[in-house]
Amino acid sequence: MERLKINLIIVLTLGLVFATSCNTPKKDKTTDVAIIKSDSIAKNLLELKCMLCHNTAGKTEEQMIAPPFFAVRRQYLRFSMDEQDFKSSMRNYVLEPQADKAMMKGAIDKFGAMPKQDFDEKELEQIIDYIYKNPFPKPAWFDAHEAMHRKGIQH
Ligand code: HEC
Repeated sequence: MERLKINLIIVLTLGLVFATSCNTPKKDKTTDVAIIKSDSIAKNLLELKCMLCHNTAGKTEEQMIAPPFFAVRRQYLRFSMDEQDFKSSMRNYVLEPQADKAMMKGAIDKFGAMPKQDFDEKELEQIIDYIYKNPFPKPAWFDAHEAMHRKGIQH
């Protein structure tokens, strides 16, 4: 009988622990939603302000008028020291694009420097944060493009 009592106490305590721990993920869920929401705002801004030129969906290499963000992001990750450096050098470039400070020399040769545009700095901050945090799809033609470059063929 004593044993049964102890077992009952254990079950009840476990139940209580579970019941309280179930409340914690709820809180996390709301933060998740907030993150997803601000992320989708940034994604919309990116679509609106950048994808006119940088979009790769359904495009062949010949149809591109700017480098894919897959390559832009990779290059900036390679050449920057940390998140802060990534963001500030991208911000500097986008606000004041100049061929001599570009990190993508191949893109400069192919397309010329990105046109200077009037971007809202707060929006740009969100867009760049999104680019830093999210991988972009590699276009189907990209590996062949790089292989050609490695052979020294510009195209
Ligand atoms: C009107 C077309 C156009 C739009 C819109 C545009 N870009 Fe570009 N972008 C280009 C072209 C062309 C290049 C390639 C030449 C170069 O590197 O400057 C480029 C290159 C870049 C690079 C690489 C720069 C480097 O170091 O060589 C970054 C970063 C970039 N764009 C970010 C952005 C962001 C962020 C947006 C939106 C806020 C955006 N672009 C909107 C045309 C555009």
